[in-house]
Amino acid sequence: MASACITGLGMYVPPKVVKNDDLKAFYDTSDEWIYTRSGIQERRWVEEPASTAELGLYAAQEALKMANKKPSDIDLIIFATLSPDMYFPGSGVLLQNLLGLETTPALDIRQQCSGFIYGLSIADQYIRTGMYQTILLVGAEIQSTWIDYNPEGRTVGVLFGDGAGAAVIEATNAPGRGVLSTHLYSQGAYARELCVAEPSSATRRHELPGSYGMRPYMNGKEVFRHAVQRMGEAVQIALATQKWSPEEVDLYVLHQANIRIVQAIAEFFHLPMEKFYNNIHKYGNTTAASIPICLTEAWQEGRLKSGHKVILAAFGSGFTWGSAALVW
Ligand code: COA
Repeated sequence: MASACITGLGMYVPPKVVKNDDLKAFYDTSDEWIYTRSGIQERRWVEEPASTAELGLYAAQEALKMANKKPSDIDLIIFATLSPDMYFPGSGVLLQNLLGLETTPALDIRQQCSGFIYGLSIADQYIRTGMYQTILLVGAEIQSTWIDYNPEGRTVGVLFGDGAGAAVIEATNAPGRGVLSTHLYSQGAYARELCVAEPSSATRRHELPGSYGMRPYMNGKEVFRHAVQRMGEAVQIALATQKWSPEEVDLYVLHQANIRIVQAIAEFFHLPMEKFYNNIHKYGNTTAASIPICLTEAWQEGRLKSGHKVILAAFGSGFTWGSAALVW
């Protein structure tokens, strides 16, 4: 049976660099607070107007190039974002159109920071059943337009960045290569611990202007606690399923929300931080784009080589979380 193999990777971040100190223009904050609490030094923000689908396009073009594929080779587009261009339809169809495609199916998924892991799992299943051979998976976000620039928005506002990452996923018959297993979880009991509640089907549009529900809410401590526990569990089940020891994995790529979350997981498994690919200092939390941006940079830096054992894991709003075990 064929399995799914990542054959192309690409990323795009807007050129505008926003340093921690730049945020002092609207928040009572400091470089020291942000860096010591999260590991973030700067992030990229789009200059308006911008489109999430367009950011996805730039990343997708790079990924297609690396995979030596044309847009017309794509059997399915999976688009993961929490910041779509429109309330509906999703950004997947917009990307499909930007790629010059006419009727290629496009599937949007709403799994926030776990979007890439969920998308990879979906792609893997389609490839295993033989329904599709070439899938484009994109994670893209424009978060600088939804964060709250009011003083009380500082806890969430300093953490997020804009960007996009993409992967071309193809069927391979090479034994022991590609995606070996994925594990997905969610827990809606915590949906309100990290959310932007509006626009909502529960609110009439004329009530929206200035509505508090349009501002992001995050219970930072609760999210942190669950992120460490749940991503740790997700890594554990990936290891157990593959019968891999923590040490024999060549590279761990965990969602970039806070470097202290990654440090806590590294400590739990008694692993050095060198086993983990991190770039949160440059981009902040780019939600669904975080893992494919990491993979692209890891590949460019020669940290992903043929035969490498790789574990991906993510946790985010929903709560949703999961992991994937791959052999590169
Ligand atoms: N700048 C300066 N001070 C800030 C601040 C900011 N940007 N944001 C919050 N503060 C203040 C708080 O108001 C609080 O002040 P108080 O003690 O007077 O009430 C103080 O800093 C400490 O805040 P606290 O919430 O205890 O900080 P923390 O150590 O929990 O770190 C987070 C905050 C958000 C960095 C951390 O909780 C976190 O990373 N959570 C998980 C985030 C995450 O993973 N999100 C996405 C999941 S995909």
